Amino acid sequence: MRLTEILLGFVRSVNDLTDSSAICRADRMAVKRYDSSLYHKFTFSWANRVKETFGYSLPKITPGKVLDFGCADGSTTAELSFLYPDSFIIGIDINTYQLEAASYRADDRVSFMYADGYYIDKYFENDSFDIVFAMNNLTDICNMLPKRFLNGILERIVDVIKPDGYLCIASMGNYCVLRLDDDKDASVISRSGRDLQYQIILDILQGKK
Ligand SMILES: C[S@@+](CC[C@H](N)C(=O)[O-])C[C@H]1O[C@@H](n2cnc3c(N)ncnc32)[C@H](O)[C@@H]1O
Repeated sequence: MRLTEILLGFVRSVNDLTDSSAICRADRMAVKRYDSSLYHKFTFSWANRVKETFGYSLPKITPGKVLDFGCADGSTTAELSFLYPDSFIIGIDINTYQLEAASYRADDRVSFMYADGYYIDKYFENDSFDIVFAMNNLTDICNMLPKRFLNGILERIVDVIKPDGYLCIASMGNYCVLRLDDDKDASVISRSGRDLQYQIILDILQGKK
């Protein structure tokens, strides 16, 4: 009897570890505690983070719509509005405290909304954006989430990007710019660093795994 209980407990804890919703819950708790002032202390610049990360690899687009996935307090969103002066910029986050701070940066071209980027298709229609920027968030979950779950997140993100649009991901100064073709097949047009996390994302987007 005791042995059965021990075995059942073991199975339950393994299930918990592999259950994506449990991981998501842990992620949500981390997000609640997230304090951007600490994060900004460790990033190399407050105002020019997007430009300093992507440099000349920043995609050039005709006026359109740009999404800042996980915008936190909106500092990158504000910079994107400066870098894409003819476009509309939307910042999304699941941290309401951060969104409240970001709301002061809203204007007629910049808006912020609560949206869970993992289920982005619930908030935006297919082909909504010319560029999606995901800075310092997507890469962090690569090692945490089961592949099938990460596949779904990336698939849904690609769905909301227009054909010929871009997905720009970055993590602490390293970046990767992906271009989608007409059929939304992704290719890397520029990248820095060779972090494993990028490779995981690239492999999924390029259908290798
Ligand atoms: C480290 S901050 C990065 C902020 C900003 N992108 C930057 O680079 O300065 C990560 C942000 O991603 C947000 N985030 C995490 N998971 C998210 C999700 N599923 N949907 C939307 N935002 C999310 C967090 O709430 C947090 O504000």
